[in-house]
Amino acid sequence: MEQLNIREKFINFFESKGHKQIPSAPVVPENDPSVLFNTAGMQPLVPYLMGEHHPYGTRLCDYQKCMRTNDLDEVGDKTHHTFFEMLGNWSLGDYFKEESIAWSFEFLTKVLNIPIERLAVTVFKGNDIVSADDESANIWRKMGIPDKRIKYLGEDDNWWPNMELTGPCGPDTEIFYFSTDEEVPEEFDPEDNRWVEIWNNVFMQYNHNQDGTFTDLPKKNVDTGMGVERITAVLEGVSDNYESSIWKDVIKKIEDISKLPYEGNEKAMRIIADHIRSAVFISADPSGIKPSNTDQGYILRRLIRRAIRYAKKLDIDINSNWEEEVATLIINKYKKYYVELEENKQVVIDVLKSEKIKFNRTLEKGLKEFEKIASKITDGKMDKDNAFRLYDTFGFPIELTVELASEMGIKVDEEGFKEKFKAHQEKSRAGSKERFKGGLASTGETETQYHTATHLLNAALKVVVGNDVHQKGSNITSERMRFDFSCDHKLTDEEKQKVEELVNKWIDAGYNVVKKEMSKEEALKSGAECMFIERYPDVVTVYSIGDVSSELCGGPHVENTSNIPHIKIKKEEAVSAGVRRIKAVFVQ
Ligand code: ALA
Repeated sequence: MEQLNIREKFINFFESKGHKQIPSAPVVPENDPSVLFNTAGMQPLVPYLMGEHHPYGTRLCDYQKCMRTNDLDEVGDKTHHTFFEMLGNWSLGDYFKEESIAWSFEFLTKVLNIPIERLAVTVFKGNDIVSADDESANIWRKMGIPDKRIKYLGEDDNWWPNMELTGPCGPDTEIFYFSTDEEVPEEFDPEDNRWVEIWNNVFMQYNHNQDGTFTDLPKKNVDTGMGVERITAVLEGVSDNYESSIWKDVIKKIEDISKLPYEGNEKAMRIIADHIRSAVFISADPSGIKPSNTDQGYILRRLIRRAIRYAKKLDIDINSNWEEEVATLIINKYKKYYVELEENKQVVIDVLKSEKIKFNRTLEKGLKEFEKIASKITDGKMDKDNAFRLYDTFGFPIELTVELASEMGIKVDEEGFKEKFKAHQEKSRAGSKERFKGGLASTGETETQYHTATHLLNAALKVVVGNDVHQKGSNITSERMRFDFSCDHKLTDEEKQKVEELVNKWIDAGYNVVKKEMSKEEALKSGAECMFIERYPDVVTVYSIGDVSSELCGGPHVENTSNIPHIKIKKEEAVSAGVRRIKAVFVQ
């Protein structure tokens, strides 16, 4: 079957209801140190859900690149993915429950032609913060959903994101579809997994503060999310997502390469398909992530290495161009929706190839070493030293060792490994794992200061090094700022010192930071700096700092540069050809 044009159908429908389509944000969030990847369509919209004015208005819709890595090791079954796309529509203080539910219902029944008999919903049953959501239940009744198909559930099911995470949140109503050919039971049972959740409408009206309290947001918002992979599988009537039109041709390609059938080799083929697709999207992202031992780079490395290991299981000739063939198919399939895939095609292919070569060099030896270690184990446990050796000498991510070991009934001392690893690495991988769990954007005071300092740094580099300097990437944590920029040489000590002095001079000068909305054209004419002009809407926000800096940016920023401590450049290094990286910290 033709791939469902679900994205266009969704966008057209919500445009007809007065929504503006916003472009997908990068899968690696910029200036949001609280998460490694966008995990939901709403994530790039946090400032607007918190009350900032969005240049596109109050009704938005999109399809967004998302990555969830908590379940990385689950990939291999019928339904799990790491990368996925999320369709979403938002009301920023505009419409609320009535329209949101009515339009979801209309889209499902009139555009996707899902019979109402196959639909059921859950609504929030209430807690200390908010009472039971009878309002949503009543709206569903009005749509024709019978009482037996409406269930009230608690905060574990009907509160998004969950009670622990800070940031904007609220009760939600989830829509379920009866997915098999069997007779649809009259009464909806949310525990019966033939009912598949397809859409989540969150009524975001609270902020969960750092101190644990919940306060009303300035406005009541709607945030919805529908996974493209799931809705496609559901509509095509397949219980294995990988048999849907999204994956079919990718699986077919892997069958051709391996000369093996999908049947009997499902797990390996799903892992290869999923992991290569995620690796393609991460390495094509404008953030320029490369495989490494920390943060997003570590996930990219794990994905590629796990895909390689499963390719070996299928006896694919690792030295052939198998990964390029799979990646090219994926790029061609998605480039219409995500132009960066085509633009960065060569980068993607190079990333996959060079990581493959690196891993290959040690994989055979590593597997032999693993077997040697495993054969000596008599108590079912692998100690931290052996696990660390496999990591350090043979490039085995700990998860790979754990997976190999578990296939032999061996448990690895992961805790011990982590301690050793922490001691060994400047930045621990454990730390980054914590950050996955961390949820939504929380931009604290220090991050905000670093954000403004980044604009000053960008401007100072232009003065000292030249006007050819342009931002290539930026990443901020509460400990430091990191700034990537185009430049054809290593900065001299003198240049570094001048840049530092200039930024600190501007900080002392106490410039006001002024936010202004204007048309994209006007912004460009005014000479405002920006990284990816084509990704910006027609109306943009420009932050200017005195007359030293003017940049398209979503904020947040300090009000006056005197609110920022002085900076010190700690490191200046190459990232790739023609791109340098500065790491700088605040000195009090
Ligand atoms: N943000 C909501 C979700 O991801 C819609 O389910």
